[in-house]
This record gives sequence, C-alpha cells and structure tokens, in this order.
Amino acid sequence: MTEEIQADSTHAGAVRKLKVVVLYGGQSGEHEVSLMSSASVLEELDEDKYDVTPVFIDPQGHWSVPIESLRQYDVVFPVMHGPMGEDGTVQGLLKLLGVPFVGAEVVGSAVGMDKCIFKDVMRAHGLPVVRSLVIRRYEWTRASPEEHAVIIEHVGCELGWPVFVKPANMGSSVGISKCKQPEQMPTAVEEAFRWDRKVLVEAAVPCARELEVSILGNDELQASVVGEVKPHREFYDYAAKYLVKGEEESELIIPASIPAPLMERIQHLAMQVARLAEARGMTRVDFLLEGAGAGSAGEPGLFVNEINTIPGFTSISMYPKLWEATGLPYSSLLDKLIELALER
Ligand SMILES: Nc1ncnc2c1ncn2[C@@H]1O[C@H](COP(=O)(O)OP(=O)(O)O)[C@@H](O)[C@H]1O
Ligand SMILES: [Mg+2]
Repeated sequence: MTEEIQADSTHAGAVRKLKVVVLYGGQSGEHEVSLMSSASVLEELDEDKYDVTPVFIDPQGHWSVPIESLRQYDVVFPVMHGPMGEDGTVQGLLKLLGVPFVGAEVVGSAVGMDKCIFKDVMRAHGLPVVRSLVIRRYEWTRASPEEHAVIIEHVGCELGWPVFVKPANMGSSVGISKCKQPEQMPTAVEEAFRWDRKVLVEAAVPCARELEVSILGNDELQASVVGEVKPHREFYDYAAKYLVKGEEESELIIPASIPAPLMERIQHLAMQVARLAEARGMTRVDFLLEGAGAGSAGEPGLFVNEINTIPGFTSISMYPKLWEATGLPYSSLLDKLIELALER
C-alpha cells in the first residue's frame, strides 16, 4: 500500500524535488569570490523545488564529500570562478561522472578562461579586440635585464602606452596591472607571473567605458539589456570589485546610458561572441567602449574584452542584475539555468 502511494505520487510528478549540488570554493585566486557568489545562490534556490546540498572545495583542492558521490544528484551548479572551477576542469570531471551541470561545457569554459585563446578566436572571426602580445614565463625568467628591455621596447612599439598586463587565466582583476610607462613593466609582469605561466599584454582602450551583457541559452541565445560599470578608480581592479565602499565604490548603471542602436549592436555582438566561444548555458560578455575623452576621430572604438562563463553571482552582481532588469528575477534565473543544464 505504501509503495503504491509512493509510486502514484511519483507518476503524478508532484513530489520529488530535484537534488541539486552547489559546488563552491575552489583552488583559484577567486576562492573568496566564490564564497560570496555561492552564499547568494544557496539562499535564493527555491526550497520547494530543490533539495540543495552545498559541496565545498578548499583552497588545497580537498572536497567536503567523496567526488563519486556527486553521481547521485540530478544537477550540479558550479559556482566557482577562475582556474580549476570555471576553466573546463570541473566541467570535464562532471561530464565523466555523468551529472548534468549548469553553465558552459568543457570547450566553452576553457576558451572563456584563457584570455589569449579567447582573443585569438575572436580575431579569427573578425570580431573587434584590442591589440595584444603574449609573454611566457620561461622566456621572461631566462632573459637578462637587457633582454627584458628589448621585450619592453617591443611592447611599446607594438601597443604604445599605457598597456594592461594580465595573467592569461584568471579573473576578478587578480594579478592585473596598468602600466603607463615602460619602467612599470617588470613589476607588472612579475606580478602576473605569480598567477600564470602565460601573460597577456594589451593596448589600453583610452577612457574606456565598461559595458556588459548577460547571455542565457543552449542553442537559442537570449541577451539581457546592456549594463555599465563605473569603477571610480584607475581601473576596475580587485579592490574596486569587492573591497572599496563609499565614494570610491563602483557604480552599476542598468541599463547603460547609451543610444538604442549601440545597445542593439552590443547585444547582437554578445550573442555572436558566446556562440563563437561555445559559451552555452550562461555567460557574461564584457566590452570596452572608447570614452568621449579619447579624442579619436570618427565613431568610438568598441572592443570585446572578455567573457565570464561563471560570472559573479551575488544578488548585487552584474549578471543577475542585468537579467532582473530584463524581466527575469534572481530565483527565476536560477530555475532557468537548472532547466538549461537538464535540457542538455
Ligand atoms: N585593454 C584595456 N583597456 C582599458 N581597460 C582595461 C583593458 N583591459 C582591462 N582593463 C581594465 O581592467 C579590468 C580587468 O580586466 P579584465 O580583462 O576584465 O580581467 P578580469 O578577468 O580579471 O575581470 C577591466 O574591467 C578594465 O577596468
Ligand atoms: Mg573583467
């Protein structure tokens, strides 16, 4: 009798909640950011629909549960930013385990994580990205101070000053410096090499405005309204993103105050970017728009800067806020992401 009742209710599809794992923490320089993002996700996942289990990965890579145990869940929501979380490694593991997961697959995650490869893919398809160069750690470390000077001179000739120096695989502005003159390069390069063996050096977009779009979907993609970040600091560095409060606090302007045709162009470009980078599920596409003070003639340059396949996910983060402004509140967004994971 008891069995029948259970069978009946299962048939009616009325009772069983989806068993969801929220995977958080991780070994990257963005561990702390994951703690903030996952706290919001855990709070907002609808308890009536989901049976939620948080699974933690500590900075040394230890999991709070045996990895194999993830097989018993319906879906995993990785809320980890940076290497070993957002870069395809965790996605590959989940794929091997046979558990559906939220966000981009292996390729999209890896392409989105490596800023050099990402830019190459964009260039190959004729999408606008800034000029850039790559420096490898082994080349830099075996070079003499004279050879460093030659590399730096080459950077100046190719890109001009200022430049941005970035670890190829990182996020949240960790390890990034802006160099206004050649003398600042050695420190900036050394700092970036603390985080990665490959460093990207980029021409700075003058008076850059930072515009971001949220993308959602597997095959058919949807774009949110465009938002703008105003950092109120030299650039949108780690402190601007997570630490400073008060006057120096960054502003999110949603929707961005830009003409409608530009808004549409950016939304269209963002969907193209997500498609070309294989960033399915969710992704945030970030642009740099030459500011009014840049002084160049003609239309201001618009550049694809980067994508984030697991974007910041606190309730005040750009990705969910853009969806909210587009008519999709935070907890419905979580439902949609889980639906997309199961659909694949
Ligand atoms: N080429 C550039 N021109 C102007 N500003 C830049 C450029 N590249 C990066 N920035 C600034 O540095 C910030 C962080 O760089 P980004 O490439 O977005 O790295 P992250 O993945 O760490 O967010 C950007 O939000 C922007 O403020
Ligand atoms: Mg960024």
